[in-house]
Amino acid sequence: MNVGAAVASLMSPHGLPDPYPAYDALRAVGPVLPVGRRFIVTGYAAVDGILRNPKMLAYDSGILDTQFDEWRANRAVFLFAESMLRQNPPNHTRMRRLASGVFTARRVSALREVIAAQVDEILDEFAGQVEVDVVTRLAYPLPIAVICALLGIPAADRDLFRRLAEALTAVLEVRWTEEQGRVAHDAAVELEAYFDGLIAQRRAEPRDDLVTALAAAHDAGGDRLTGDELMGNLALLLVAGFETTTNLLGNGLVLLLDRPELAKRLAAEPASAPGYVEEVLRFDPPVQLTERFAGADLTIEGVRVPAGAEMILLLGAANRDPARFDRPEVFDPDRPDNAPLTFGAGAHYCLGAPLARLEAQIALPALLRRFPAMELTGRPERRPRLTLRGWAALGVRLDSVD
Ligand code: HEM
Repeated sequence: MNVGAAVASLMSPHGLPDPYPAYDALRAVGPVLPVGRRFIVTGYAAVDGILRNPKMLAYDSGILDTQFDEWRANRAVFLFAESMLRQNPPNHTRMRRLASGVFTARRVSALREVIAAQVDEILDEFAGQVEVDVVTRLAYPLPIAVICALLGIPAADRDLFRRLAEALTAVLEVRWTEEQGRVAHDAAVELEAYFDGLIAQRRAEPRDDLVTALAAAHDAGGDRLTGDELMGNLALLLVAGFETTTNLLGNGLVLLLDRPELAKRLAAEPASAPGYVEEVLRFDPPVQLTERFAGADLTIEGVRVPAGAEMILLLGAANRDPARFDRPEVFDPDRPDNAPLTFGAGAHYCLGAPLARLEAQIALPALLRRFPAMELTGRPERRPRLTLRGWAALGVRLDSVD
């Protein structure tokens, strides 16, 4: 496959289900490749270096202004642009410090029991059924319940969020249609109205949750957090908090069901879960790419990158770079020194990484222990997205038929 064919394949519905051959073809030409006005980065060292380089900028509103007219009219694009994900210093530093102050290790470890109880409840509901769709029944509801518990969203409102998040995250893809943009905008308007109501309730009756804590940061005044930033970061936490984890659970389960010996070992040795989850994150990342813009003329791995160039960082390709990982095409939960770039690196390193890992480390062994004969009902279908990679549905038979 040449460079043109590889790029075309990544953008086409035929290539999306398995982007890895295209990644290999691109990496074989070079870790940093100029393609049109952009650079595609596939090497581990190059992606890691770019993410840690302060001269490489996140896609902030100043950059959006140079690329799109009227982007502020789309509330979904606007909300993400107001969130910490799309900020550079000093705004990023300010927001990140605030969010880290409320999204603490204490809050995450307090969720361990919520996660375990939620997994048990879901698996109890599976009992007596022959087949279930794991995406609908577990991979969505579990992370939604967990992020809602963290934010302080009442359980009765959870059902809203799968649709809203699916709609909103379309604008995080490299390309989206006008119709997807419109649906994302409507979802953002609906979500903002929802959060307005919840924030008002928490102001009246504060609780130990993130909505209360972030609203208090806003209300403290000064330049701590504007109203739009409060909304943008709440929306980010909500969608970053589950679409991605949903896909980690789904991608992980299929990898394991395709490797029954490994699945059996994980069920028997739940303490080995961290190694398994890290390898799922490396081998089939729920987030396949992110972007940066060169803030100055730079040379990366010997390639000249002019100021203003857009860098597409293929995390899924970096995680299979043979210069970093021995036999990268092999799924090996015992891999030593496994450090995938799935949660990014540097200043924007995923704030929710410990939480996402914990959910998968609890849910995957529990599922395999409870239903040791579980198998896929057929080959599942991928969602037609490149950035957020997951399964549309995942039918499993809970007890094998033979
Ligand atoms: C497997 C699940 C997850 C994956 C693969 C993932 C991936 C990522 C990546 C790659 C970034 C950095 C993007 C960049 O540098 O451009 C990021 C940032 C972020 N993630 Fe996650 N994420 C996951 C789960 C979560 C969860 C559960 C939460 C919250 C509850 C969360 C909240 C965030 C936030 C707030 C940021 C922005 C951090 C910043 O800009 O400083 N993520 N995530």
